[in-house]
Amino acid sequence: EAEKKHHWFVGSIDQGTTSSRFLIFNGEGEPVASHQIEFENLYPNSGWHEHDPLELISSVEECIDGAMRKFVDLGYSKSDIRSIGITNQRETTVVWDSTTGEPLHNAIVWPDTRTKALVRELKSRDSSDSLLDLCGLPLSTYPSSVKLLWLLRNVDAVKQAYEEGRLAFGTVDSWLIYKLNGGAKAEKPVHVTDSTNASRTMFMNLHTLQYDDKLLGFFGIDKTKVQLPKIVPSSDPECFGKIASGTLINVPIAGCLGDQSSALVGQCGFRTGQAKNTYGTGCFLLYNVGTEPVISKYGLLATVAYDFGGGRKPVYALEGSIAVAGSGVKFLMNNLGFAQESSEITSLAESVPDNGGVVFVTAFSGLFAPYWIDDAKGTLFGITQHTTKGHIARATLEATCYQTRAILEAMEKDSNHKLESLAVDGGLSNSDLCMQTQANVSGIPVDRPLMRETTALGAAIAAGLATGVWRELEDLKEVNQNGRKVFQPEMERDESERLYKKWGQAVEMSKGWVQ
Ligand code: G3P
Repeated sequence: EAEKKHHWFVGSIDQGTTSSRFLIFNGEGEPVASHQIEFENLYPNSGWHEHDPLELISSVEECIDGAMRKFVDLGYSKSDIRSIGITNQRETTVVWDSTTGEPLHNAIVWPDTRTKALVRELKSRDSSDSLLDLCGLPLSTYPSSVKLLWLLRNVDAVKQAYEEGRLAFGTVDSWLIYKLNGGAKAEKPVHVTDSTNASRTMFMNLHTLQYDDKLLGFFGIDKTKVQLPKIVPSSDPECFGKIASGTLINVPIAGCLGDQSSALVGQCGFRTGQAKNTYGTGCFLLYNVGTEPVISKYGLLATVAYDFGGGRKPVYALEGSIAVAGSGVKFLMNNLGFAQESSEITSLAESVPDNGGVVFVTAFSGLFAPYWIDDAKGTLFGITQHTTKGHIARATLEATCYQTRAILEAMEKDSNHKLESLAVDGGLSNSDLCMQTQANVSGIPVDRPLMRETTALGAAIAAGLATGVWRELEDLKEVNQNGRKVFQPEMERDESERLYKKWGQAVEMSKGWVQ
């Protein structure tokens, strides 16, 4: 039996905001080979953030080749790989010409705020919560809908393709699946998305998991002119097609999940009431609410957690998204020259006993959940002659922890349920100081797995479930359970309340700064 479990491997493409990766997992959910490539993030104007869609593809292909070389060196071969899953940065919007398969513009990346004015205009048309009730997302610069609308209004090539019915739209999952299947040259081009990714567009009805005419109509999108990807479950042996060329030719793509959903799956957060927080470029807290969506009254998003198909009901989550987490650490390194490595930022933060009165509202692209303040700007408070890099480093880590607490409070109000512990992963979760701070600030234990490739593992699980590597969720109960470390709250409650109040004050004061 043990040998049989080990026999199959599943590959996982993880296409994120700053890097692409390919990992290969065995039947016990352990990574055996991987490769990662950082690619260029483009910032052509203040608040603009783009990716070259062709570079996304080439980086993924290079990662597959790199990881496969290591896999083969271990004595395995392509035929040991049962299927592959895809997980991706969400909301990022790609448009291409369906006749040539070529991009019509750079991808607009999820934290991009060029749509600020457009969002103000749209908000004046929807003062009620009717859109939120349908799709689970409030109007903001974050979802794909406003990004597509901006492209339609501002880029001639996109407008023209739309008028001529050759405009294809997709999030990064759709773009990768399309290209990996051979793009426009494929006998039957594959243009699909899974419901977790579609739930980030604002075009999908969260209750039916299909495009909604009222939503499309609100954004003025004519679905006869733009080719929208077909919405399918996150786990399926056929509808994602198979790899058309290269090292993994003919291997089926059988799983697809937006990266935050994927991390929840990789943490095996399958029970209602389980939650995870991924500290990546941004920080994303997902709380499993079961098989009925919960529309938030407190600034959270309602989203599809996963939809494993095969007669299983889709599972929903409440989500709190924070725009800046790891990117705050990158800012200290790249823009302010504080350090060369992110671990040095933690060391800097450890060089001081506390934040010395410094609070950093890292609102580089406004503030996301639960505040949703588009015009908040990054603001440092409390600087004195005494302030050192250490205090600022500490305040940067704390900013993510305070926002996480604000989201946890909103989740408790929306669900009427007190969270007992928080599973964590992502780059910043490597920092013991940051995780201890999180436990202190939020007053609940923070539970970190030893194997923190949970995002990639989630997509592998979705693919493996579709292709018989695992048959039921039951088969996954031992996956990723070893060596977890739990951070218990250690700070006096009065002190953490005092600090959190200061944070709230700072958020208020970061609003409305006009540059
Ligand atoms: O919603 C955006 C999110 O999916 C991006 O994730 O890990 O690339 O920061 P990450």
